[in-house]
Amino acid sequence: MFKRIPGTKDILPSETPAWQTAEAEARRIFSLYNYQEIRTPIIEEASLFNRTLGSATEIVQKQMFLIHNQEDLYALRPEGTASIVRSYLENNLEKTRGFQKLYYIGPMFRFERPQKGRLRQFHHIGAEAIGSEEADLDVEIISLAAEMLKNFGISGHQIKINSLGCPLDKKKLSDTLKKELSGRMDLLCPDCRTRAQNNILRVLDCKNDSCRQIVKDLGLKEEYLCPDCHEHFAGVKRGLEDLGIPFKTDPRLVRGLDYYNRTVFEISHDGLGSQDAIGAGGRYNNLVHELGGPEMGAAGFAFGVERLLLVPNSLNRTLPQKLVYLVTLGKEARRAGIKILNRIRNAGIPADIDYLNKSLKGALRSANDAGAAFVLILGEDELKKNSISMKNMSDGSQKEVGLDNLIGELKC
Ligand code: HAM
Repeated sequence: MFKRIPGTKDILPSETPAWQTAEAEARRIFSLYNYQEIRTPIIEEASLFNRTLGSATEIVQKQMFLIHNQEDLYALRPEGTASIVRSYLENNLEKTRGFQKLYYIGPMFRFERPQKGRLRQFHHIGAEAIGSEEADLDVEIISLAAEMLKNFGISGHQIKINSLGCPLDKKKLSDTLKKELSGRMDLLCPDCRTRAQNNILRVLDCKNDSCRQIVKDLGLKEEYLCPDCHEHFAGVKRGLEDLGIPFKTDPRLVRGLDYYNRTVFEISHDGLGSQDAIGAGGRYNNLVHELGGPEMGAAGFAFGVERLLLVPNSLNRTLPQKLVYLVTLGKEARRAGIKILNRIRNAGIPADIDYLNKSLKGALRSANDAGAAFVLILGEDELKKNSISMKNMSDGSQKEVGLDNLIGELKC
């Protein structure tokens, strides 16, 4: 028997209601904030990600699903931001509409060691706002994420923010780290020794205890920020306070993608174990220019849907569905029943019928398993009287209803 590839997941019918709730709520909130959906291919030229995420980043070095196709090298997208900026430029959205607020929902692929909350195919619900450098936009992005969590029924999370500053500030911070860590390299974990060569900022958010202690001892503050970046970050913090969104400033937060500058943020939840980030994002002012467009600011975020679903009691509401289940007894009733089923569906009421020709008892059990709100029973007697028996599954009551009044009764 074939099995699914490690790190991938079948989303079974018992789980899809939670997914549908997440997607429906996300779409509702995106539209409240005036974001429009964009759908890009899941396959892109691999060099798009080398160029944008950074050739030395873990994702590009170790986690890309690559497809060699004769001369070309393609990759399954490991994230959405790079593809969206590519699409924004390729479709001239910056010329036609300028400022754009876009959202996306879909699968992403990273070749990681699978574990709880870490998959090789996972899903993002994300947003990208392209065309503004305003601190208020960072505030909108973070508040949009916070609002979404509230509507997903998630609480107890923590929002951490930091500012990496402009490219010059980032360089200043990297240089300081290089200097400070040069005498302590042998105390860093093997990963961080490599990071110190490729992307020293990543040493800051290493989870290893000894690296954490070294970083803590550095006592980093925001002194590497230039006055403009300092003011921008102050604006973000002020805006979040004005909206009453709780957050914590974390100077160790650097994120694993090269395109970020200025604001970065991460939302974590204690109930998740080691993979505790349920979402993350930030500002990426140079990305549009890096991909051949004009200089313009942009910011965004993405939630990992699988991780949202791991949060205890999140998204456990099923979509309201008043299923009607039809049981027919005998050939004549069956034929009439199929027409009634059609009428109920045409009236916009979800309805189904027992296709296994079970006994009345067996059909009622199937109706119960299907979560039916009402069961309609049609036998020879009812057919003669142009009526149908209607059983309310929540209180067990039963009554006979004229077929002419059926839709009205079901809609009550
Ligand atoms: P990211 O932090 O790499 O950011 O991913 C965002 C979220 O996706 C994470 O916080 C986590 O919840 C989830 N996630 C990441 N990797 C996995 C995995 N292997 N299995 C399950 N869930 C995972 C980005 O991708 C950026 N593009 C976010 C962004 C948008 N920044 C600006 N705009």
